[in-house]
Amino acid sequence: MIPVIAIDGPSASGKGTVAERVAGRLGFHYLDSGALYRVTALAAQRAGVGLEDAGALGPLAAALPVRFDAGDIYLEEQVVTEDIRSEACSRDASLVAAVPAVRAGLLLRQRAFRQPPGLVADGRDMGSVVFPDAALKVFLTASVPVRAERRYNQLMNKGIPANMQVLLRDIEARDARDASRAVAPLQQGSALLLDTTHLTIEQAVARVLAWYAAAAAAPS
Ligand code: DC
Repeated sequence: MIPVIAIDGPSASGKGTVAERVAGRLGFHYLDSGALYRVTALAAQRAGVGLEDAGALGPLAAALPVRFDAGDIYLEEQVVTEDIRSEACSRDASLVAAVPAVRAGLLLRQRAFRQPPGLVADGRDMGSVVFPDAALKVFLTASVPVRAERRYNQLMNKGIPANMQVLLRDIEARDARDASRAVAPLQQGSALLLDTTHLTIEQAVARVLAWYAAAAAAPS
């Protein structure tokens, strides 16, 4: 059985950075499942498909010409690594992610990332839906002001202008939508809670590695 570490949590919690570093330490593969929803939203926008048009979005997600290669994300032959991180794309991704046909269309593609020696997957439903048999399930979060501040610094470092009040409002709106949707809502479930409000990235990484070592050593 190929082990999976599922790291779920809300927007801007730092779970992507933590998941990627944990994968690096263990020599595991890494799945950024949110990127698939973001690329779906971008592809829909470019194809002129409405963000709630389930009939068109399902097939689009299932046949999405997306590729992860050497740290870059491609939609067909175009690099979209930066484009999909815009605030507009974040909002659109949250809308398409609420469409059941989109989630169904992306399911097998996500499971295909489970390759030896193991996988670290981050998202909203990695532990609840995509990899319910994960060896370790973590729910990684931080307070809304800390998440808004992290997002603000990230944007500033990239030279993208940002407004703290707008970021706070957007994060709250996205949290509410991701947690209240009917399909695969964001929820802690049986996952271990990792609140990183007062932790550095390295402390969070160390915590996940320690939990995984304990889970891997425990008789199943
Ligand atoms: O993790 P992220 O912020 O890149 O995710 C973008 C959007 O996709 C977010 O609004 C929620 C959605 N998403 C989801 O519904 N399920 C996942 N497994 C990952 C992301």
